[in-house]
Order: sequence, then structure tokens, then C-alpha cells
Amino acid sequence: MTYTMRPFLFSILFTFLATVFAQPLQPSSTPTSFPIDSNAPQRSSPQTPPATSFPADSNAPQQPSPQTPPATSFPADSNAPNLPSPSSENRSLQGVGRHKGGHHSGRRKRVNTRKYFGYVPQTNDTSFTNQTALAQEFLHAHNWIRKQYNLPEYTWDEKLASYARGYLMQRYEDCKLVHSNSNYGENVFWGKKLHWSPSDATYYWYQEKQWYNFQTLSCAPPPKACGHFTQVVWRDSQRIGCALQHCHNPSLGMLIACEYDPAGNYENEDPLKQHER
Ligand SMILES: *[C@@H]1O[C@H](CO)[C@@H](O)[C@H](O)[C@H]1NC(C)=O
Ligand SMILES: *[C@@H]1O[C@H](CO)[C@@H](O)[C@H](O)[C@H]1NC(C)=O
Ligand SMILES: *[C@@H]1O[C@H](CO)[C@@H](O)[C@H](O)[C@H]1NC(C)=O
Repeated sequence: MTYTMRPFLFSILFTFLATVFAQPLQPSSTPTSFPIDSNAPQRSSPQTPPATSFPADSNAPQQPSPQTPPATSFPADSNAPNLPSPSSENRSLQGVGRHKGGHHSGRRKRVNTRKYFGYVPQTNDTSFTNQTALAQEFLHAHNWIRKQYNLPEYTWDEKLASYARGYLMQRYEDCKLVHSNSNYGENVFWGKKLHWSPSDATYYWYQEKQWYNFQTLSCAPPPKACGHFTQVVWRDSQRIGCALQHCHNPSLGMLIACEYDPAGNYENEDPLKQHER
């Protein structure tokens, strides 16, 4: 069969400082399918990683300047890299930034996400410099979610974590919420305050489940996004590696990135089903 839909390999979560969930927890009542993108990358073979560059994306979010409050809608991102030309393969990934980040302007109080996931930190390191503790927390939150869907657990992959750290180092000065050119699935989170934890980022990604319709394999219309969630619960993805970084100028905030291997988010495929052979 032919897979002509596009995937959403990467997704970006854009979160505000004191803001938490504006969205109700009910599932979306009007899911739509993802738009077809004739420029979406395609796989060259099931064994090779997905395309390494991403489509120009007019919907990619941009961060506000540090002094202004974050915008509630996002301007075009002129920095998005271009798509590779499509190959002959059929299974394709949705391009980076197809979803606007969730915009969280609600006034609800901040969720204790560590408690939510039942994570007990083994260290009192509040500056997130303990890489072992970070890995444990990312993995715990992800696997807590995977368990809800009877999915095999992720394992931690230091190569992916190293990639994520290296990528966030590239963003150390600008602190921009943009994707890397990785071959992996990738979720990125930006927060203005420096208090966001691995559990927080993963929790926000998980909350996108409310917009995802497993019957139709589709997300509620933009600006709702589901790509972070579907990557987290993508059955075929086996390994994660993540990083957390406070940016150089603390007023620019912080970034969290997770890499997923093999990448998920092939459009029109059920995240919970096994696809790889
Ligand atoms: C992919 O496309 C090729 C050629 O169009 C076809 O032979 C093959 O069966 C397709 N594979 C899948 C998984 O649909
Ligand atoms: C963290 O700090 C609290 C209060 O200071 C203390 O009770 C707890 O044992 C500490 N935990 C670890 C793992 O050091
Ligand atoms: C780092 O975290 C690990 C696991 O949480 C913990 O066992 C270890 O004691 C921590 N190291 C330091 C220096 O705090």
C-alpha cells in the first residue's frame, strides 16, 4: 500500500512561564486529519533513518523577545531548514514544526508533575546538573506514560542524550525553540522560567493526548498539537536520550529536548501499533 501522508517527526512544545494548562482535559470534539504536505520527506527504506533535514515550515513557532510576553500565535519561522526531495519510498514523516506549540495561557496552578508520575528524586539537585538523575527522571516519566498504553518501555541511550546535549549547547546563546537536524524523533520544550523539570516537559507532551483521536489517527485542528504525545507513545521507538539546559542569558529561559530512536510520527499510522519488522 502507499503511504502518501506526511509525518510529524518533530514537534515543539512552547510553554509559558507562569502559565499552565489552558486546555480542558476533554478529548477534542472535532478532530481533523493532518494536511497533506507534498514536500514531506519520505523514507528511503525501512532500515534507514528518516530524512535528516526538514521542511520549510511556515507554522513554526518563534520565541518572543525576552522583554515581551510570549505571543499567543506564532509568526512564520524563517529559520526552518528545507526539505530533502522526496525519495521513492512510501512511508513518510511529518515535517518539523507542523504543529504550533501548545499555548498555555491558563491560570490553573502548576501541576506537581513529579508527584503525578510518582517520581521520587534521589538527589536534591535543583539545578539539574546531575546527568544520572536527569536520565532517571526523563525515563521514569516516559515509561509511566508508555505503561498506560501497554507499550514496551524506553531504554536510555547515552548516544541520544549526548546528541541532545550537543544540540542544546548550540542553542545556548539564542535559546531558540527550533528543531535540530537529527535523524531521530525529537521533542523540544522551552520555558521562560528555569524551574521546569524533565517531568514537567514530559507531562506537557503527554497532555496533548486530549487532542488526539486514536480512531481517526488525527489531531484537533491547529493550534492544537499532538506530535509530542504521539512520539512519546510511538510503539516502534525504543530508545530515548534527553537533555535539559538553562540558556546563557537566564532571562531567555531554558530548553529541554528528547531524541527518540527509531523515530516515530509517521502520518496515518497508529502510534500504538508495531510497524517495524
Ligand atoms: C512502497 O512502494 C513500493 C513502490 O511503489 C511498493 O512496491 C511497496 O510495496 C510499497 N511499500 C509499502 C510498505 O507500502
Ligand atoms: C532532600 O532534602 C530533604 C530536605 O532537606 C531531605 O529530607 C531529603 O532526605 C533529601 N533527599 C536527598 C535524596 O538527599
Ligand atoms: C546523582 O543522581 C544519582 C541518581 O539520582 C544519585 O544516586 C547520585 O548520588 C547523584 N550524585 C550527586 C553528586 O548528587
